[in-house]
Amino acid sequence: MNDEFDEKNFLEVCTELEKLDETFLIKGVPEEYKEVWVPNNEIKLWQIPRTSAEVLKAFALSNKSKVILELGTSAGYSGIWLASAARQSGGKVYTIELATPKIEMARKSFEKARLGNYIEQLEGKISEVLSKWDKQVDFVFLDADKPNYLGYIRQFEPFLRVGSIIVADNASDFGHLMKDYLDYVSKSPNYYSFLLNIDHGLMVSIRL
Ligand SMILES: C[S@@+](CC[C@H](N)C(=O)[O-])C[C@H]1O[C@@H](n2cnc3c(N)ncnc32)[C@H](O)[C@@H]1O
Repeated sequence: MNDEFDEKNFLEVCTELEKLDETFLIKGVPEEYKEVWVPNNEIKLWQIPRTSAEVLKAFALSNKSKVILELGTSAGYSGIWLASAARQSGGKVYTIELATPKIEMARKSFEKARLGNYIEQLEGKISEVLSKWDKQVDFVFLDADKPNYLGYIRQFEPFLRVGSIIVADNASDFGHLMKDYLDYVSKSPNYYSFLLNIDHGLMVSIRL
């Protein structure tokens, strides 16, 4: 298999995943989601739109991110965009997901996009994976169970450096579920934060 990165192939994989996002649906909530917040009792891919993906890539490139942490892999759409930044900055993406079918889908997406060398998949509940985290982080993308964002930042905060960037998705459409997180990053003197009001709303925070 040809594993050399190719922009045209990458964009074809993006388009394929964007189409899949429109149809993928599991009705009901599988056992592994017990204790995890799920909107409307159904499982979708819940991918970010391409505009948000391009913004993520731009931010990760802007601070030459070497270690990129993603909370919520799904089928790997945002992951391939982040990995394309990691490829250019000589870094790696670490992405966390608990749903077995999605972990497998993401593995295939990373292979198809020829970015498997720039991504490590971490399987399990985010809080449990983060409890064993030990690397300095340059960029974090939060895109999982919204009510737990504040708990997650508390876990990875010790590993941020001055200039690390955190982007939290759904700050507009599900802002009410992460109010504690939004208040925290807005009021803390340790961050410069602003709401980028595109797509689902990206809350961007720079560690000062
Ligand atoms: C919004 S989707 C991620 C979409 C992905 N970032 C993208 O744009 O392609 C959120 C994902 O987080 C996973 N998730 C939610 N809560 C989780 C938790 N506590 N631990 C691990 N994964 C979780 C869900 O299974 C789901 O696939």
